[in-house]
Amino acid sequence: MKSLVVPCALLWALPAAADFDAASYPPYETCALCHGLFGQSRTDKFPHLAGQKPAYIRAQLDAFLSGERTNDGGQMSSIVTELKPEDFAVVVDWFSEQDPPSPSTQPTDDAGMSLAQEAGCLECHASAENAPYVTAQHAGYLAKQMRDFRDGVRTNSAAAEMHREFFQSMEDGIDQIAAYLASLERTP
Ligand code: HEC
Ligand code: HEC
Repeated sequence: MKSLVVPCALLWALPAAADFDAASYPPYETCALCHGLFGQSRTDKFPHLAGQKPAYIRAQLDAFLSGERTNDGGQMSSIVTELKPEDFAVVVDWFSEQDPPSPSTQPTDDAGMSLAQEAGCLECHASAENAPYVTAQHAGYLAKQMRDFRDGVRTNSAAAEMHREFFQSMEDGIDQIAAYLASLERTP
């Protein structure tokens, strides 16, 4: 009897053990906890990555790895150290190829639209390869980044100084612009 039971149990256990081997997971599953498996996150602390421009995603991962970009909780800085060099291209392709998120908030007035049009925000953000899509992003995330630029927390790009100047004397305007951008359908 025993000899029958043991091999049977082994057959059962082996594939299960292999499933739990971290090495067999695609690397973007590490990101899913915060950003969602398909790059649409549930809270505005974590940006949507779905459909984001690949060159931009890559640049941010490199910046977190080198320490040029940080975030308060330090989550990104530590997670990128867990990626193998060959994983970077895999996660960039995975997230950039997903369908973009849908607009989230509806602004209560036109204040954000006027400010954004005056500054020409979407002229870069729609088309320039190094400028991320900001439409249909979480408003809360956008506003945090704008304040990080304003307060000199996010400095890792040639565009940082210009953004610091945009937002330097703004407080409510930041939330208004963020709500406007988040309410727009993402069009390439
Ligand atoms: C424990 C939570 C957590 C995990 C896991 C995580 N991230 Fe993040 N990620 C964040 C937070 C928080 C931010 C926003 C940082 C900030 O406020 O500047 C962020 C920001 C980013 C950004 C910048 C987006 C932008 O619009 O600038 C990219 C790209 C990114 N993450 C990719 C990844 C990838 C790829 C993985 C998996 C390898 C991953 N993240 C795993 C929490 C996480
Ligand atoms: C001349 C081009 C240009 C203009 C105009 C511009 N941006 Fe940007 N913006 C960029 C680039 C490039 C980046 C990426 C910076 C980096 O790599 O860290 C960026 C990054 C951002 C981010 C971070 C997004 C993320 O996913 O983390 C926000 C938010 C943002 N811009 C908002 C704005 C707003 C609001 C305006 C108008 C008031 C504006 N930008 C005008 C080029 C521009």
